[in-house]
Amino acid sequence: MKKQWWKEKVVYQIYPKSFKDSNGDGIGDLKGILEKLPYLKNLGIDMVWLSPVYQSPFIDQGYDISDYYKISEVFGTMEDFDTLLAEAKKLGIGIVMDLVINHCSSEHEWFQKALKDPYGEYAGYFYFEKGKDGNPPSNYRSYFGGSAWEKVPGTDLYYLHMFAKEQPDLNWENPKVKKELFDMINWWLDKGIAGFRIDAIINIKKDVNFPSYEPDGPDGMCACTAMVERVDGIGELLGELKRETFAKRDTFTVGEVFNLKEGALEEFVGENGYFSSMFDFAPHMLTEGQNGWYDTREVTFLEWKKTIIQSQMECQGKAFLSNIIENHDEPRGASRYLPEYAQNPDGIKMLGCVSVLLRGIPFIYQGQEIGMTNCQMDSIEDYDDIDTYHQYREAREAGLSDKEALEACYRFSRDNARTPMQWDAGENAGFTKGTPWLRVNENYRMVNVADQEKDPGSVLHFYRKLIALRKSEEWKNVFVYGEFLPLFEEDESLFAYARTDGEKKAVILANFGKEEMTVKFSENLGKVLLANMYRPQQINAREVVLEPCEVLVCQVCE
Ligand code: GLC
Ligand code: CA
Repeated sequence: MKKQWWKEKVVYQIYPKSFKDSNGDGIGDLKGILEKLPYLKNLGIDMVWLSPVYQSPFIDQGYDISDYYKISEVFGTMEDFDTLLAEAKKLGIGIVMDLVINHCSSEHEWFQKALKDPYGEYAGYFYFEKGKDGNPPSNYRSYFGGSAWEKVPGTDLYYLHMFAKEQPDLNWENPKVKKELFDMINWWLDKGIAGFRIDAIINIKKDVNFPSYEPDGPDGMCACTAMVERVDGIGELLGELKRETFAKRDTFTVGEVFNLKEGALEEFVGENGYFSSMFDFAPHMLTEGQNGWYDTREVTFLEWKKTIIQSQMECQGKAFLSNIIENHDEPRGASRYLPEYAQNPDGIKMLGCVSVLLRGIPFIYQGQEIGMTNCQMDSIEDYDDIDTYHQYREAREAGLSDKEALEACYRFSRDNARTPMQWDAGENAGFTKGTPWLRVNENYRMVNVADQEKDPGSVLHFYRKLIALRKSEEWKNVFVYGEFLPLFEEDESLFAYARTDGEKKAVILANFGKEEMTVKFSENLGKVLLANMYRPQQINAREVVLEPCEVLVCQVCE
């Protein structure tokens, strides 16, 4: 595949509210991020994706934007942003902004104008539709529960919101809306940002007849994804988006794409796709149940591993996916993908290693590099996430007790990954001098950056070596552009694969099992490139014994 600058990068996701507070108001901010740039540089990071920092009422933590051209005062000023961008650039770090263009905030000027004149120009920026027989236009359930339609006060109209009612969907059939959005995107690109992570993008194409579908739950509604999955024509919109904005320069884009139609991978992220890359959510989707978090599926190691392998094989030679263990919407990987006996620093290093050396772009979510874990809150009031409230309510309505509903939140709440970054063992984990907006995970005294800096055997040091290996002159071509070859696919505790560029070859071996195991090869295992347990520099054998939670990256020779 073509060599492109962004393929060689390692990206770090910052959730600004929880990264570092500089002024003691308990909320992370841009100056806090600025302060930590050297830390990111040291880790080997080339690009930082900032979850939204725009002006917002924070109904959905900034994914509800009320002014695309302003920085939220909670985070600082545009001047702070420009400083951050410039200082990051000096360190060779690009800034990737979050692009939320399926919807805006109900406090956005466009929506406010639409409400004032529900048959006027700005109503056409949204989907204002007549109800049917006293009911909403269709039976769609929003992602955060309840109808996806909300009454426009004083009229018989409803507006569409696939997420919260404070997040009205923008009308992508309206050329004026597209023009406004494209101008805004170009305005940000003019500033010199590296690119965009593109939020919920599959939802922008609507079937404007808004047909109702077979109900899929006791509420008589169907998930709004039923429409997304059936409607055609998103390609035209995405093609236009690319042509009018990203394609004019060498912008990096990564799509948050769920519900991709079969066979559409190359159209979306092939060499000439709409985006540079998109996240591989296949392993995260495995737990998905029919009715939300209280009703998830148990997933075996083998199933999880095979799903990752399948994604890798599907995009080989065709596309470059972005690989994650966790993000701001998903629970912590260390709590989710590791069996209990492996939930320790060795296990966490092993998980990081198998993920970062996959083919594709590694995204590391803040705190992952020190092994932050899920965080249990005492009661539903301690959470601060609209989706968690909705999932809790659903669980209670389905007859679960408070305790049972909370247990579902312990496992899947989006706040698991949103607790403040653990910088040191001091008060509030060094995140703030004030009161943190969301509780700090109690394990911060054991899991924090400062302690790990001092310990060469820590998860943090391991991540540094891991990233350095992936980017090293010697191995870059193998780990970035090389082929992915699955090994021992049916093994129920070994996660193993090889990477090769045709000249050099490395194997990654990880024992997720409880027992030690012997792995036999037809080739010779040579130089040890990375290990999380003691290993001499050379193996020089055709077999190797792996301890539980051991990961080994090793050169292989004929
Ligand atoms: C994406 C974001 C999520 C947000 C949603 C609506 O899925 O990652 O945090 O709630 O879009 O914007
Ligand atoms: Ca602050």
